[in-house]
Amino acid sequence: MIRIAMLGSGFIGRFYADSIQGYRNKDKIVSICSNSIENAQKFAAQYNVPHTTTSMEESIAHPDVDMVCIALPNYLHEAAVMLCCKYKKAVITTKPLGRNGAEALRMLHEVEAAGIFNGYLEDLVYTPKFLKAKSTISSGALGKIIWAKSREAHPGPHSNWFWDKEKAGGGCMLDLACHCIEISRGYIGKNIRPVEVMCWADTQVKPIDAEDHAIGLVKYENGAIGQFEASWTFRGGLDLRDEIMGSEGTIFINGFLRTGMDIFTSSKEDKYVAEKAETNSGWLFPVGDELNELGYNHMFMDMFNAYDTGTNPAENFYDGYIINAIIDAAYQSVDSKKWEPIILKEWRGQSEANQKSSHISYDQDFFLVKEELTHYGAKKLILKNKKTGEIIEKILE
Ligand SMILES: NC(=O)c1ccc[n+]([C@@H]2O[C@H](COP(=O)([O-])OP(=O)(O)OC[C@H]3O[C@@H](n4cnc5c(N)ncnc54)[C@H](O)[C@@H]3O)[C@@H](O)[C@H]2O)c1
Repeated sequence: MIRIAMLGSGFIGRFYADSIQGYRNKDKIVSICSNSIENAQKFAAQYNVPHTTTSMEESIAHPDVDMVCIALPNYLHEAAVMLCCKYKKAVITTKPLGRNGAEALRMLHEVEAAGIFNGYLEDLVYTPKFLKAKSTISSGALGKIIWAKSREAHPGPHSNWFWDKEKAGGGCMLDLACHCIEISRGYIGKNIRPVEVMCWADTQVKPIDAEDHAIGLVKYENGAIGQFEASWTFRGGLDLRDEIMGSEGTIFINGFLRTGMDIFTSSKEDKYVAEKAETNSGWLFPVGDELNELGYNHMFMDMFNAYDTGTNPAENFYDGYIINAIIDAAYQSVDSKKWEPIILKEWRGQSEANQKSSHISYDQDFFLVKEELTHYGAKKLILKNKKTGEIIEKILE
């Protein structure tokens, strides 16, 4: 059994608690910390937690606590991580790791210097659909991944601090593209170095200092391109979609909205439908098992198994740092309107990925450009001469 201190009793702290304790699990939350003692007590009553406090340090230092789960606003992540280092407690933290690369790098260095277990809670690379797509890609069914797009868009977050640029560290790009970037990185290959970013972001709708809509491209050393779309201005619910293009295949994923379950109700009662759903009357699109579809169950299983076996989880603070560094470059690109280099002070992947060609040889002399069976029964081949570069057509009747 792992005994957990939960820091934060808000939106994500409760999702995490539902996942950790919801299925006859042996792991238990033994301490809950919130800046509001009333909230902490409410959470404790709901999840049967013996210790409540408003002090992060008291929760982390508590002798019954093995692991600390950080579910606090972004501006408190670093302080909480430093206390975990002080008390040598294993730590798992929600996204984004830091408000910027510098914060994330300090956290990475400190947990490693303290020698404590560290996990990065990027749930969307643990969804059943992501895991299936990833294993399909690993089997070679898609060939070389050349483009991986991920989109997260919704009508905006649920607490005041998200809308404060200083406390949050940014707008929708930091909040949501941190998911998209790690999803694309997962498809393209986490040991392939991301090299530069081109990004557009603007404040189109909301009365805030930070961006409420952003679209960016992340170029990888092997020539692959990652694309993210993040928005706090999207109307209609929580839109999570991925598109992956490989030299040999394609995957489309709709992760949350319109996944095959439609319910109609004329009821006007205040019932929860799904995260960020904008209505609970009329046609509704619930996702089924939300905890599972959002990846929380598989994520905690990986974190806790890794802790038990003394190994690394699939996502740790190093990944959190890489994502923050990519987002730093994206913000620079928004200002400069140019491709900006991604400065990685720590890189532990491949030293140099070769731009492996995915050209298909037809025979000794030609590359195959395209093969098509026409509606009039002819099989057409478009071929490129390897020496002269000439493009020819060959028709097989
Ligand atoms: N899918 C995801 O991975 C996901 C989804 C939502 C939020 N998050 C992340 O989770 C973190 C928290 O977001 P949220 O949506 O739960 O926010 P929230 O506002 O709903 O909850 C924040 C909690 O922190 C507590 N808190 C605030 N200041 C504190 C302090 N000084 N000491 C102790 N407790 C304090 C609040 O009382 C509240 O319980 C953020 O980093 C956010 O980016 C992740």
